Amino acid sequence: MTEKQRLERSSHSPLSGADGRVNKLKNLNPITGESEEPILVSFEDVSAASYRIRKGVKKTPCERSSMSEALKMDLYFKKDYLQHTGSFKERGARNTLLMLSKEQKEKGVIAASAGNHALALSYHGRDLGIPVTVVMPLNAPIMKISACRKHQASVHVNGADLIESKEIALKMAKANGLAYINGYDHPHILSGQGTLGLEIVEEVPDLEAVVIPVGGGGLLAGVAVAVKGLRPDVQIIGVESERCASFRAAMDAGHPVKIDANQSQTLADGLCVSKVGSNAFATATGLVDKVISVSEDFIALAILRLIEEEKAVVEGAGVTAFAAVLAGMLPELQDRKVVIPLCGGNIDSTVLGRCIDRGLATDGRLCRFIVTVSDRPGGIAELTRLLASLGASVKDIFHERAWLVSSVFNVQIKVVLEVRDREHGLQVKEALQLQYPNNVLWGLDSGSTASTS
Ligand SMILES: Cc1ncc(COP(=O)(O)O)c(C=O)c1O
Repeated sequence: MTEKQRLERSSHSPLSGADGRVNKLKNLNPITGESEEPILVSFEDVSAASYRIRKGVKKTPCERSSMSEALKMDLYFKKDYLQHTGSFKERGARNTLLMLSKEQKEKGVIAASAGNHALALSYHGRDLGIPVTVVMPLNAPIMKISACRKHQASVHVNGADLIESKEIALKMAKANGLAYINGYDHPHILSGQGTLGLEIVEEVPDLEAVVIPVGGGGLLAGVAVAVKGLRPDVQIIGVESERCASFRAAMDAGHPVKIDANQSQTLADGLCVSKVGSNAFATATGLVDKVISVSEDFIALAILRLIEEEKAVVEGAGVTAFAAVLAGMLPELQDRKVVIPLCGGNIDSTVLGRCIDRGLATDGRLCRFIVTVSDRPGGIAELTRLLASLGASVKDIFHERAWLVSSVFNVQIKVVLEVRDREHGLQVKEALQLQYPNNVLWGLDSGSTASTS
């Protein structure tokens, strides 16, 4: 950030003045939550939010990771998955609910959300006695839908995706006088999310970088304002899912643009926002040093590593920052003191099971191969004996006879194996190649079933 930008930002008037609601907010439509010009959130807004939410939102621990040595960095995890509803979204939700006018508190609020924002509003709305309606897309995770119902929100599962759900919610807002709360772009949401940054600096005062998952950009913007406000030298890095790189697209275009994105295509469903928020983008601009995107394989691996090493269950959207570190995409952070927020832990058990399998595959601990062996008695036994002697465990085995073009006395065997680690997998591969020369299709190649031997 240049000195000029810093001066401009420090002179930004806060969202709430002595009378509670002045300045920038006069342009904010109280029902749609939208404004003609982007509204920038200031450090004062974040500090005020921190005081405002202090009683209802937990101050979560920020602890050094046991993986620091292996990853060659002094790594700290800010554990916001430990919030009541399992995500940082409570910060912005409670702040926004508390900032409503008395009249609006009685009428209530509405939001379109695939999960964590809906959950946070439902929980804090109930706590504060404010009616909450949420519209969730048809593909929203089941556990998030049931949890919103448990918190007694009025839940409407409607809309093929978040965009459709938002249109429905906006119509309902106008018809019923409810305030629409955008979960990644409302200025009070941004200020609330920024409180996570204030806590990080308090808990790890000598940090050198923060790496943050990015969806609609609200968390990145809020944390960037808070951290750079206190420590302008700290690097702020955002990480998106490769399947929804909408912040990168906005940076390239110079303003938020809509990209193609499908929530069911990514493990980081919470990050799948096809157009980042205009307030979030304007607030983050000049404060964020870098935004990168990470692949699904490393998101799955990050989920697995956190379960095994940190005993933490974190959802796909909450691990993208750590996934980027695992993927080796941030070599500049070597030997640095780095904080990564683990922002949410709401993951369906069935999805978790799939993530673990994918993570094991990315880690080289789940392997697959195809080999053609004799179909005479003992042919398959010979193969499984070899695998057993190497200490590899068969997870799945499939026989193929009908479509083989080789001798009718052959059988093609497709195997999924569990091994100790990548090196063990290589030992198994070499032993198989020795026993069955020119006849082993290993790894990705074994996705095809062709074999002529
Ligand atoms: C767990 C989790 N992490 C990170 C994010 C990203 O937040 P934002 O949309 O403000 O960028 C979300 C958004 O829903 C989320 O649910």
